[in-house]
Amino acid sequence: MSSSSSSSFNRRDFLTTAALGAAAASLTSPALAAATDESASSGMVAAPVMICAGNSFAYLQRGFDAVVKGGDTLDAAVDVVRGPEDDPDDDSVGLGGLPNEEGVVELDSCCMHGPTRRAGSVGAVRDIKNVARLAQTVMLHSGHVMLVGEGASRFGFAHGFPKENLLTEHSRKVWLLWKETHSDADWWGPGIADPQWKNPPQFPAVDSKTGKPIAAVSAANLENNLKNNLENSDPRAEYWQRKLERMHEVAAGLGIEPEFRAAAIQRVLRPPTGTTHCSVLNAKGEMSGVTTTSGLAWKLAGRCGDSPIIGAGEYTDQDVGSAGATGAGEENIKVAGAHTIVENMRHGMTPHEAGMDALKRIVRNFNGDMNKLRFLDMTYYILRKDGAWAGVSLWEGYGPGQEHSIGVIHQGGKRKYATTALFKGYSTGWPPIPEVK
Ligand code: GLY
Repeated sequence: MSSSSSSSFNRRDFLTTAALGAAAASLTSPALAAATDESASSGMVAAPVMICAGNSFAYLQRGFDAVVKGGDTLDAAVDVVRGPEDDPDDDSVGLGGLPNEEGVVELDSCCMHGPTRRAGSVGAVRDIKNVARLAQTVMLHSGHVMLVGEGASRFGFAHGFPKENLLTEHSRKVWLLWKETHSDADWWGPGIADPQWKNPPQFPAVDSKTGKPIAAVSAANLENNLKNNLENSDPRAEYWQRKLERMHEVAAGLGIEPEFRAAAIQRVLRPPTGTTHCSVLNAKGEMSGVTTTSGLAWKLAGRCGDSPIIGAGEYTDQDVGSAGATGAGEENIKVAGAHTIVENMRHGMTPHEAGMDALKRIVRNFNGDMNKLRFLDMTYYILRKDGAWAGVSLWEGYGPGQEHSIGVIHQGGKRKYATTALFKGYSTGWPPIPEVK
C-alpha cells in the first residue's frame, strides 16, 4: 500500500508525528526553560481530600463518598484505582493492559496504610486484574510485604480472586502489531508465500520470470534515488515513512479498526508505561496510598517497574504525607521517587518543591543530557498531611491532548489540573532512531 493509494494511511499522521518529534527535539537545547507555573498545579484544601492520576479521575467520587462516611482511607484508594483496573479500554492498568513481549499481561501494585503503618505489594502477577486489592490482601493476610509471580497469583486465588484472562482482543492485536513489525529478521508476520509479500527495500525487485533487474529499480537507479533522497530530504523521514506504511498494512491485516490504527502504532513505537495512583487524607488526618499498573508494554517477562516497589511507585508516612508515581519505572526506582518526596516534605519542602527535587535527581542521573532525558517521562502526585497537594512532571505530556494531569477531590468539588513540568514541551514520541544508511 502506498501512501497515495490509501485513504487510511496516513502521510498526515506521519508528518504530524514527525513534527512532534522534531518539536520535542528542538526543545532540548541547554537554554530549555523550566516551567514555573506552580500555582496551577498545587494547592491546599481542608481534609478530607483525595488525589489521583488522570486515568482514575472518573472514579474519585465513589472513594471520596466512602471516606466522608468514615470509610478506611486505603479501602477508598483501592476502590478508586479499581476503576481503570476493571476498564478493558484502559490499556495501562489491570484488565486489557498491554502485555509483555510474550503476549502475557503481568501486573504490579503496591499500597501503604498510614494508620497502621503497614504495606503490601505484588509484582508480575498474571490472571488477576485487581492487583491493588491483592497488594492490600498481602498486607492484611500475610506476614510478608511483597509477593511476586506465580506465588502472588496462587495467594490471590486462595483468597478468592477470580482467575481471568487479562489480554483483551484489542491488546492482543496491538501486541501482534508490535511483534510482526518489530523485526524483518524473524518469522513473525506474513512470510514469503503470502500473496501480498513485497520485496524489502534493500532487495531491488527483479522481473519475476527472467530474474533480471527491472529497469525502473535497477541498481543505478536505486543509487540515484538514494543520492537524491540524501541530498533533498531527511533519509530518516524516508525510512520512517516506509516503516509506518508497513505498520498500517500489518495493522489492517490484523483487523485493527482504521480509527484505532494510529493509536496502536503509537503504542508499538513508543511503549507506554501507563499506571494509575491514588492518595487519601481523611478528616482524622489518616492517610493511605496505592499505585497499580500493567507496566511497560512489551517488557521482558518478569520485569517489575517502580509500581510494586514501596518507596518508588508509592510511599505514605502517616506523619508527613503520601506520594505516587507514573512514568519511567526504571528511572523512578533509582531515585526512590515517592520516598524521596515524602522525606523532602518531612524536611520542610512544599509538595511542589519535594516533587521537583525528585525530578531533578532523575535529571542528575543522566548528567542533564537532554539527548536522553527527552525520551523519559515521570509524573508525581503528592499530598501532604495538612491538605497541601501538587502534581509535577518531567515533561508536560506525551503530546497535544496527552498532557499529564492530577485529579483532586475535596468538599469544595472535584477537578483535574495539568501538572507543572520541569521541562517545557512534550517528551518525544519517538524512541532513538537508528541512522539509516
Ligand atoms: N511506572 C510503571 C512502570 O514503569 O512499569
